[in-house]
Amino acid sequence: MQSREVDAPAVQTLLAAAVAAPSIHNTQPWRFGLDPDSRSILVRVDRRRPLPMTDPQARAQYLSVGAAVFNLRVAAEHLGWEPLVRLRPAEDDPDLLATVQLTGPVAGPSAPRDLRELYGAIERRRTSRMPFTGRTVPDQVVMEMTGSARAEGAHLDVPDIVTTRRLLRLTAAAESRNAVHPARTAEVRTWLTAPGAAAPYGVPLTALGPRDASGRVPVRDFTGAPPAPQLPTLRFERHVQLALLWTHHDRREDWLRAGQALERVLLTATAHGVRTSMLHQAMEWPDLRQAMAGSRRRCHPQLLIRFGYGPDGGRTPRATADEAP
Ligand SMILES: Cc1cc2nc3c(=O)[nH]c(=O)nc-3n(C[C@H](O)[C@H](O)[C@H](O)COP(=O)(O)O)c2cc1C
Repeated sequence: MQSREVDAPAVQTLLAAAVAAPSIHNTQPWRFGLDPDSRSILVRVDRRRPLPMTDPQARAQYLSVGAAVFNLRVAAEHLGWEPLVRLRPAEDDPDLLATVQLTGPVAGPSAPRDLRELYGAIERRRTSRMPFTGRTVPDQVVMEMTGSARAEGAHLDVPDIVTTRRLLRLTAAAESRNAVHPARTAEVRTWLTAPGAAAPYGVPLTALGPRDASGRVPVRDFTGAPPAPQLPTLRFERHVQLALLWTHHDRREDWLRAGQALERVLLTATAHGVRTSMLHQAMEWPDLRQAMAGSRRRCHPQLLIRFGYGPDGGRTPRATADEAP
């Protein structure tokens, strides 16, 4: 096993898993390479699709790359390798965000859930911006989700009703600010793709859900003002189930860890038949992001996750190796 080569089918399996990760506006801000000598996958940030308005520090893009790194780890274990991750391993190569070295055979199951068990969820996971049924996700599943974040060095709070309302209000405030900010609206709009368009990046109109008739769930408006396509309106769940992902620090390494935690949480939910979507808007305004932390000290909110039972989300495209040199 130690001397096993990373053959072409294995590389294909690893990369297919990596690119299935979620990314802000489906910008897929990653590039991969292979160092056969050290049997390592090199993960770089791809700076060619920046979001200067939404994500000026590229924090959300680092989260996205972190999610891809987590999928690489799951796929490596699925193929029988123990993955060894080094974050930002080379000072003189700042775009190299991680290396995932395929070391010996997988040892015993890793707590709290064997990563191999999450492999099937990688392809099944999709962002669902649809209304959920409101059926409560069992405590056992929620505990597994919070344990998944903890296992990656991050934290996941599942708030009570009062805090849930506060987090939704802050997200709605961000959404309202975005709506009257022409440069931000224009930036988001460039990532919305028309049905049938062959664009390898961005969010297709078919992956969007309706607007919430009650106004309770502030899903991101990718469409902008008329004459842009107008979405139907439906009632979303009354009891919205949210989880706030946060870290103690806010360095680049923390963003990469938070991204791995994010994907571990999403895959754990998916493995239990729970749908997920993301509400990132409040993270894009420093005062609102700080307010999301509440009275906690040393709390840096990274992303708000909405979860529950309901319909699947629409498919989003991925760039092939030719499209992403
Ligand atoms: C850091 C991050 C932030 C995101 N923020 C939002 C958001 O605010 N609203 C939203 O509808 N989707 C959000 N998404 C989901 C992406 O749009 C989605 O992952 C992408 O379009 C690919 O689709 P998929 O998740 O179905 O594979 C976010 C994803 C990531 C990783």
